[in-house]
Amino acid sequence: MAKKSLSFICQSCGAVHSRWQGKCDSCGAWNSIAEESPAAVSLPVAHRSGRKGRPIELQSLAGSSESPPRTQTRIAEFDRVTGGGIVPGSVLLIGGDPGIGKSTLLIQVSATLARAGHRVIYVSGEEAVEQVRLRAERLGLANAPVELAAETNVEDIAATLSQGRTPAMVVIDSIQTMWTDTAESAPGTVTQVRSSAQILIRYAKQAGAAVILVGHVTKDGQIAGPRVVEHMVDAVLSFEGDGAHQFRILRAQKNRFGPTDEIGVFEMTGLGLEEVANPSELFLSNRDRGAPGTAVYAGMEGTRPVLVEIQALVVPTSLGTPRRAVVGWDPSRLSMVLAVLEARCGIKLGGHDVHLNVAGGFRISEPAADLAVAAALVSSLSGAVLPPDSVYFGEISLTGAARPVPHAPARLKEAAKLGFARAVLPDAKNKERGGKEREAGASPIPLDVIGSLADLVAGIAARGTRRSPRAVEEA
Ligand code: TYD
Ligand code: MG
Repeated sequence: MAKKSLSFICQSCGAVHSRWQGKCDSCGAWNSIAEESPAAVSLPVAHRSGRKGRPIELQSLAGSSESPPRTQTRIAEFDRVTGGGIVPGSVLLIGGDPGIGKSTLLIQVSATLARAGHRVIYVSGEEAVEQVRLRAERLGLANAPVELAAETNVEDIAATLSQGRTPAMVVIDSIQTMWTDTAESAPGTVTQVRSSAQILIRYAKQAGAAVILVGHVTKDGQIAGPRVVEHMVDAVLSFEGDGAHQFRILRAQKNRFGPTDEIGVFEMTGLGLEEVANPSELFLSNRDRGAPGTAVYAGMEGTRPVLVEIQALVVPTSLGTPRRAVVGWDPSRLSMVLAVLEARCGIKLGGHDVHLNVAGGFRISEPAADLAVAAALVSSLSGAVLPPDSVYFGEISLTGAARPVPHAPARLKEAAKLGFARAVLPDAKNKERGGKEREAGASPIPLDVIGSLADLVAGIAARGTRRSPRAVEEA
């Protein structure tokens, strides 16, 4: 092979370099560049033929268009994340750590769809047919009419798929194991993954079948290697959770046919993944009600309220530099809350280690947790137990003001449903920008409206001097 016909391609982002180097300039990944045959990265033949372009008809933005038809999988949590079911002809990428339950989820979805009379094909490139069968048997799904194959060559798969009735769903587990004759590189390289994905995407669009690709995730949470695939597919879902906890969260990262802020919650049991219709109950199930340093946060995930317990432990430090450890929340937001507590409320934590944990292994992405975090921190530091029937939500600004957050009615409704009797939240008038004001009479539970972080601290301190918290006696 002539020397100049080699390319160096970053296996993380797909950037092409003229020579090998230790670090990819494009995405910053180290040791990710591999030598690959350039055939697959050059343009397809049609583009090289010098054919003159044909003018295409342009259309106006206004016009009739209907929402895409959807195939509901009848697994409600899965349908919620996809935006109401899978869209025929669309391609979905599901990423997640090894062993998190991607194959389990997809065999369950496949079986439910197949039982509803749809044609479903499950192609495993990682496991033998027997292994897939065994899993299905353990899940009690062995009698579902899912068509199975263990294959890794995309041309063979595409040929198989184009025979017979168009399938409603095709699962490819996983895209990293696929290879095509058109690319010379080894399976798993960017070129192979991208070319294979291209063939499968073309098949999905032509045949109108939904294709679900499983992708592996690297240490830093990227869908391994083929970040390029993320751009090619219609939706990217990630399946998260950790080994220590039973629940798994399916989150949409990109969705051309639906919202990206919805989550689906599942619990891994001996009989596979079970849907969790009310996640708040799961996250609050093992709550320690009488201990200082815990506060219940009324959060939102997409259109759904989720209540979780926030635990803080503030202890005098034994080291020169105090520790700040956070699980499930943004560490820089914790630093901000600590700084505001110090600057605006005179609470100095420079000599204390601070540990913050979101119970149950949940990960909060909203700034609305500021108030609940501050309450848990102050409670731990002072030893004052917060009333166990209160929920907290609201954002804290650098000035020390408590700022209202969206979806207050939904949060309050969920709190009331779960038996909470009081909510501590910012005054709606504190809003920086214009917006809908909350109607005072509409809340299902009494509100404890505060204007600033100092109000919150004063409230907790007042309760702390009373020794036994009133709310505990009332409960
Ligand atoms: P799997 O779906 O194979 O993960 P992935 O495809 O994401 O790599 O899930 C495997 C894990 O799930 C394994 O550690 C065992 C666990 N599991 C259960 O706890 N219960 C079950 O019913 C099944 C099938 C798996
Ligand atoms: Mg698997």
